[in-house]
Amino acid sequence: MSTEIAKQRILQRVPLHELVGEKVELKLKGGRYSGQCPFHEDRSPSFFIFDDHYYCFGCHARGDAITFVREQQGLNFIESLRYLASKYAIEAPELEKPQHDQQARQMEANLYKICAAATTFFEERLQGPQGEKARSYLADRGFSPEFIQQHRLGLSPSDPQVLVNFLLREGYSIQDMIASSVANASQYDHKGYDFFTNRLMIPILDLYGRVIAFGGRSLGDEQPKYKNSRETPLFDKSHVLYGLFNARDTIRKERRAIACEGYMDVLQLWQHGIGYAVACLGTAMTIHHLKRLGALTPRVYLIFDGDKAGRNATLRTVSLALEVPQTEFKVVVLPTEHDPDSFVREFGPEALEAQFESAQNLLEFAIQTRISETHELGIPDLIAKEFIPWLQSIPDAMKRNFLTHKISELTGIEASQLERSIRAEAPKRPSGATAAPTAAPLVSERAPVRPMKGPEVEFIGHLFWAQPSELDLTVVTQLLRSKLELDELWQEFALEMIKTLQKQMAPAMQNKAHWTSSIAPEVLQVIGHLEQNAAAYETEVRQQQMVKLAQEIRKRSLKETLARLKQNLLKATPDEQLEILTAVSKITKELSQRSETHQA
Ligand code: UTP
Ligand code: MN
Repeated sequence: MSTEIAKQRILQRVPLHELVGEKVELKLKGGRYSGQCPFHEDRSPSFFIFDDHYYCFGCHARGDAITFVREQQGLNFIESLRYLASKYAIEAPELEKPQHDQQARQMEANLYKICAAATTFFEERLQGPQGEKARSYLADRGFSPEFIQQHRLGLSPSDPQVLVNFLLREGYSIQDMIASSVANASQYDHKGYDFFTNRLMIPILDLYGRVIAFGGRSLGDEQPKYKNSRETPLFDKSHVLYGLFNARDTIRKERRAIACEGYMDVLQLWQHGIGYAVACLGTAMTIHHLKRLGALTPRVYLIFDGDKAGRNATLRTVSLALEVPQTEFKVVVLPTEHDPDSFVREFGPEALEAQFESAQNLLEFAIQTRISETHELGIPDLIAKEFIPWLQSIPDAMKRNFLTHKISELTGIEASQLERSIRAEAPKRPSGATAAPTAAPLVSERAPVRPMKGPEVEFIGHLFWAQPSELDLTVVTQLLRSKLELDELWQEFALEMIKTLQKQMAPAMQNKAHWTSSIAPEVLQVIGHLEQNAAAYETEVRQQQMVKLAQEIRKRSLKETLARLKQNLLKATPDEQLEILTAVSKITKELSQRSETHQA
């Protein structure tokens, strides 16, 4: 194996005491380096370097240069090799990505340089005369000038070609500027235009401290509130956590991390001395995010804004966390109206840390939230439609069994009943076969898809025909999640389109093969239908139309539920009648609030 060869070469050449010496104060005694162990609270020096490995007589930590980098920096194996190779200038062609030719490497190098040059450029703008308004915005939000410099915040100019012209003079090509997402291609001429204009610029760093992308916040109420770099060869949102480069050492030292939702949350927490905070960038947590954090710490607090927790700590996140068993994930929900930024500014860092005391386990939180969002008579349905398919998707029998019992505890439904449903609703097996062995992965074939209704198709159609600039994707995602109750297949298709739009691409312009996760025939059929009806989706006010559709859909579904409940009322026992009437009054209230806001 060629990585093995690279590994041996790297281990031979890395001066371990130098590498370790950057983190630990080492003393040379009797021909050996020793110091206080970085892996446990160590008073007397029990940590020793022996040629190519280290060993601690206190906590028995041992390893080589690669383990050290993995543990200290949360890099994976290959990344650690690359890190060491580049740090100590060791040739390691074996580690280069396949098909990563000279040209691609040259381009990547240029993209790093462009991001670095843009960062300095934005910083100078913020500090210069044009930066006054932005500086006072930052001051109002409580950021000190030193903090702003330390974290290299900046400002993008309001004219649309200032950065492009500057970078041209520095010798960079428009093509590379577009590739690094600091510029947009013009459809009309061969010029490029600045991707970010008149925004507060927040550089996003990789694990080596290089700038790879930016978040840009509008300075007032202009929408979208944040504009983030497109995905580029350097920047993959599903892997990058904002702030990890800075927070990494503190996370390791404190043995805990905070994952929050926004740039400002992270910056504000840092400024209040909570240095172990990071954020994912407007996306849901991915397995890569969780693994990165899991490599650094045994405990992660997922901290959610009061009103968003339910949407973010989902069963899906639980499935991911199951893949990172060494780390405990806990959920902190802030009071409504607060996010970590506003919370620490109002109550201080101790008050925030005090909230950790009442943090709930992710698993229990996710299940309980779903249950509490559902009215009591809807719970059997919730179990059948969500929990059972979810349990079926867990391939490991032991984990599935554990979860089944948790759900049983939380819902009061017998575990054996749940187990029967898991088996019963699993894909049909050839007749004659006895009960399926539960150890087999129960990943099911798809259940029949619930077709979309008129307004739902329209909503999806607008998404399909949208241009990236037409929609506020945060709002659209929220509508999709809170107002529409689409079958999972459509939901996935919609999310896939939102992802495409986030990458600044128009869904309708994509090749069908692009919809990889939902290439189901039903989806293809809908795409065909939408393509034939393109004219129906021409509009100047797409976003408004979608909001209106979503409200209509929600209203209709409330009315349907209402009708169903009223029907059930006749057959119900007195106890059940009370439940139903409570539900009815809740729904009636929501409906009347709706018509009020409509009239307003
Ligand atoms: P929030 O709307 O909670 O923003 O979005 P925030 O971080 O609290 O920002 P302030 O305090 O209003 O300035 C959370 C995160 O979602 C992403 C950003 O990463 C943001 O930090 N987001 C939000 C976007 O990418 N685009 C948007 O338009 C809005
Ligand atoms: Mn905020």
